[in-house]
Amino acid sequence: MLVTIKTEDARLGMFVHAVKGGWMASPFWRRHFMLDTAADLKKLRESGVVGLVIDLSRGIGPAAAPPAPGSVLAGPDDAAPDAGLAALDEPHLPSRRRRGAISPEQRAQAVVDASKVIVQAMFDEVRLGRAVDVQALTPVAEQIVESVTRDAAAMLNVTRLKSKDEYTYVHSIAVAALLIHFAQTLKLPDADVSALGLAGLLHDIGKMGVPKALLDKPGKLEPPEMAVLRHHPEKGYALLSAGRALPPVVLDVCLHHHERYDGRGYPEGLRGDQLSLAARMSSICDVYDAVTSQRPYKRPWSPSEALSRMRSWSGHFDAELLDRFIESIGIHPVGGLVRLQSSRLAIVIEGNDREPTQPIVRVFYDIPAQRFIPAHDLAATIADDPIHRAECGQRWFGDRWTTLESEILGERPAPSAAAMSKGVLS
Ligand SMILES: [Fe+2]
Repeated sequence: MLVTIKTEDARLGMFVHAVKGGWMASPFWRRHFMLDTAADLKKLRESGVVGLVIDLSRGIGPAAAPPAPGSVLAGPDDAAPDAGLAALDEPHLPSRRRRGAISPEQRAQAVVDASKVIVQAMFDEVRLGRAVDVQALTPVAEQIVESVTRDAAAMLNVTRLKSKDEYTYVHSIAVAALLIHFAQTLKLPDADVSALGLAGLLHDIGKMGVPKALLDKPGKLEPPEMAVLRHHPEKGYALLSAGRALPPVVLDVCLHHHERYDGRGYPEGLRGDQLSLAARMSSICDVYDAVTSQRPYKRPWSPSEALSRMRSWSGHFDAELLDRFIESIGIHPVGGLVRLQSSRLAIVIEGNDREPTQPIVRVFYDIPAQRFIPAHDLAATIADDPIHRAECGQRWFGDRWTTLESEILGERPAPSAAAMSKGVLS
C-alpha cells in the first residue's frame, strides 16, 4: 500500500517508493530505497523535497500517536539538541496490520545507525579537544535500553558487524547493549541499567587521546605503542572527570574495564573484590565484543567459541559472573555441560554459527536413570532435543569431573546409540 507523507514526517525504517516533485529534486540516486540511516534522513529533510510516497508493505508507516511516556523523545525534560533528536528518530511500532513489514534486525540496525551518528560526532569533538557532551549521549543510551528490552538478540547481532572505520564507535554501542542486557539479566535496578548503558558508550572515550594511526594500525602493536594505548582508561577518566557530573559507575567502568580479576590487568592492577560489579561486568562485555566482531584483518570468533575461550582464561574474569554472562547471551560455549530437554546431560562439542543456541552436543548421562549411556553426538535443535539449561560438572560429578570430561571428549561416539537417535551427526 502506498501512502503520501510530508518529508518532515519521514522516519527511519520507512521504505521510500517515490519523491514528490520528481527525481531531479531528490538528493538520492536510487528511485526506491529503505530509509535506514540517520545521515540519509537528515539529507532528505534538508533537501527541500516537500513530500514522499512510502510503501507500507516494505517498511514502517507514519507515527500514529505521540511517543509513549518515558520515551527519550517524549518530553522537554529529556529533549536532546536538535541534531540528536533528528538522528534518533525511532522507527515507531508498526500497527497490527503492518506488522512484519520491518524485521527486528532492520529495526535494531536503524537504532545502531542513528546512535552511531551521535557517538561518532561526539567522539570526534573530543579528539579535537572539546568537552564530552554527555547530554547528547544520554538519549542514545536510553534508546539502546529500549532496543535491548524489545529484542536483545537482534541488537546484539547487528552490533557484531563493524567496518574498520567505525570500529570504535560501534564497539561502544555494542558494549553498551551487552552491559544493558547483562544488567537486566542480573535484575539490576532500571537506573543502574541506564547508567551502565552510558558507561558502555563512554568506556573507550580515552582512545580519542590516542593517535588515530595507532588505533587504526592493523596487526600487532609494538611494546611502546601498546604502552601508549594502555593509557586510554586513565585518559578517559580524566576527560570524564573534567566535565559535568556523571553517575559514578560511568567513571568506574571507564577507568577499570581493562582490569583483570587476578590483578594482572591495568591501569591499577586491582583484583577480586577490589573491583566493583560494574567493572567486572564491563571487562567481560568489552572482551566478548572485541573477539566476536567482524574485522577486516582477523577472523571473528563465533559467540560459542569466544565464550569457551574466555572461560578457559584462568583468572582473567570473575568466573561466576562469566557464567551469568553466558546465561544472559543464551549461547552455550564449546566444552560447557548442559542438560537437554530429555533430562540427559551432554557436553557442547561444536558451535553453530547459523543457530548459535543449537550447537552440536555429546550426550553421555541419563539423569532419571542415574547412569552413563554410550556417548553419542546430536544437534541440540528444537526438533531433536533442545538445551534446557547449563549445568555445573563439579556439582554433578565432584572432583571426577575433569577426568570424566576428557574421557568423554576423547571417546568416539558410539555408532549404535547414534543410529538410534534422530539428528545424529556421526
Ligand atoms: Fe578499552
